[in-house]
Amino acid sequence: MKENQLLLNAESVLQNNWKNGFTIPCEGLYPFQWNWDSGFIAIGLAHIDLERAKQEIKSLLLGQWKNGFIPHILFHNKSDSYFPGPEVHASHLNAHAPKLPTSGITQPPVLGFAIEAIYDISNETEKTFVEEVYDQAFLLQQYFYTQRDPYDEGLVYICHNWESGTDNTPVWDLIWKDLDSPNYELNRRDTQHVDAVNRPSNREYQHYIHLIELFKEWRYDDTLIAKNCPFLIQDPLFNAMLIKSNESLVRLGKLLGKDKEVAQLSVWHQKAITTFNSKLFNEDKGAYVYYDLRNRRTIDYVSSSSFAPLFAGIATKAIADSIIKTHFDRGIFSGKENELLLCASFDPTSQDFDPKRYWRGPVWINLNWIIYHGLKRYGFKREAEQLKSDTLYLLEKFGFYEYFDPRKEVVEGLEIGYGGNNFSWSAALYIDFIKRT
Ligand code: DGY
Repeated sequence: MKENQLLLNAESVLQNNWKNGFTIPCEGLYPFQWNWDSGFIAIGLAHIDLERAKQEIKSLLLGQWKNGFIPHILFHNKSDSYFPGPEVHASHLNAHAPKLPTSGITQPPVLGFAIEAIYDISNETEKTFVEEVYDQAFLLQQYFYTQRDPYDEGLVYICHNWESGTDNTPVWDLIWKDLDSPNYELNRRDTQHVDAVNRPSNREYQHYIHLIELFKEWRYDDTLIAKNCPFLIQDPLFNAMLIKSNESLVRLGKLLGKDKEVAQLSVWHQKAITTFNSKLFNEDKGAYVYYDLRNRRTIDYVSSSSFAPLFAGIATKAIADSIIKTHFDRGIFSGKENELLLCASFDPTSQDFDPKRYWRGPVWINLNWIIYHGLKRYGFKREAEQLKSDTLYLLEKFGFYEYFDPRKEVVEGLEIGYGGNNFSWSAALYIDFIKRT
C-alpha cells in the first residue's frame, strides 16, 4: 500500500480509538486508557494533532497517585469487554489512589521521553505544555527511585508481569513454576476478541490474578510488596525506559530552570547506568538480562527487552558492539540466513520461543521503534535501516495489527497479523517512523 494511504489509515485508527480525551489501545480488547500505550500514541498524535497529543498525556496524569505512582490502566469510562476490570484491581484500597478508579500496578515509564518527543515534534514551541506537566513527570521518577529500589542500587523492581509490558515472556515461567496460585474462576474477555493461541494461557492468568489478590491484601503497600511479593524483578526494558526518561527530563528541566530536579535526576541517572552495566549485562549471552531480586539470581534469558538499553545510551561502545555481533545481521535474532524479520520478542533459538503467542516470539512495533532509535544512537546504520524496513514491510503488508510473526517464510503466506487489529501504537509509531526518522 502507498505511504500516503497508509498514513491516512493510521490517522483514522487513532481517530476511531479516540474517546474524548484519551486513546484506547484497541476497540473491544483494550477499552480503557493504558499507560505506556498512551506515551507511544501521544508521539504519533503530535504529528497530526498537537492538542490531542497533549490531552493524551494530561489524561494519563489524572490517574497519578499522591505518591507519584502512575498506574497501568485508568478506568475513565465503563466497559465490560475487558477482564480484569476496576472492581478486580480495587485501587481505592490504597490511600494514595485518586478518586478515578485505576489499577494498582504500573507499566514501563515512557512518560518523560514522550513529553520530550512532543516538544521536539512541535519544533520546540510547546514549552508551556512541558511546564504544565514537568513536575508530575518528575514525581513519577522520584516514586520509582525512592519506593522501588530497596537496596539503593539505582535499579528499580517490577512486582507483576503486567508491569514489564512483556506480559507472558518465557522469562516469567521460572517464577510461575514455584507459585502455587489458586485456580481462580476467570472471566476472560481477551480470548473472545482474538484467537486464544495468540494469548497467554489460563494458568498464566491465574498467576496474574493471584499477584493482584496479594497486593489487595497488602493494600498495594510498597513496603509490604517489596518484603513479600514472589515476583520482584529488575527488568532491562523497564529500567531502560526509566533511564531514558531521566535523560529527557534533565534536558527539559534545564530549559525550564528546574535546577534542583535536574541535579537529582542526574544523580539517579548516573547510578542507574553504572549498576545496569555491572549487574544486568551478561557477557556470555552478549545481551542485557534480568535479575530476580526475590530469589537473588540472574535470569539469563534474552528477549527484545535486552536491546532496549541502547535507546537510553546505557551501553558502552564495547557492550553495544557485542550485542550487535551476537544478535543482529546473521546473529541470533536475525537467524543464520537472515530468515527472521527484526525483531522477535524472545530468543528464537530457545525451546520456549513461540512465534505466534503474544510476547513469546512475535514482533512488536513499539519495541522495534525503541530498538531502531537505539541502533541509530550508536551509529549502527545498516542494522537500524534493516529494522525500519522490516517494520514498514509488516505494517504495509498487514496494516496496524498488535503483533506479527517474525518468520519471513511464514509471513509471506499470511494475510493477517496477530492479536488486535487497528491497534493504536502500531498506527502512531508508523506515523513517527515516516515523519521523523
Ligand atoms: C492485557 O490485558 O493483556 C494487558 O496487556 C494488561 O495490561
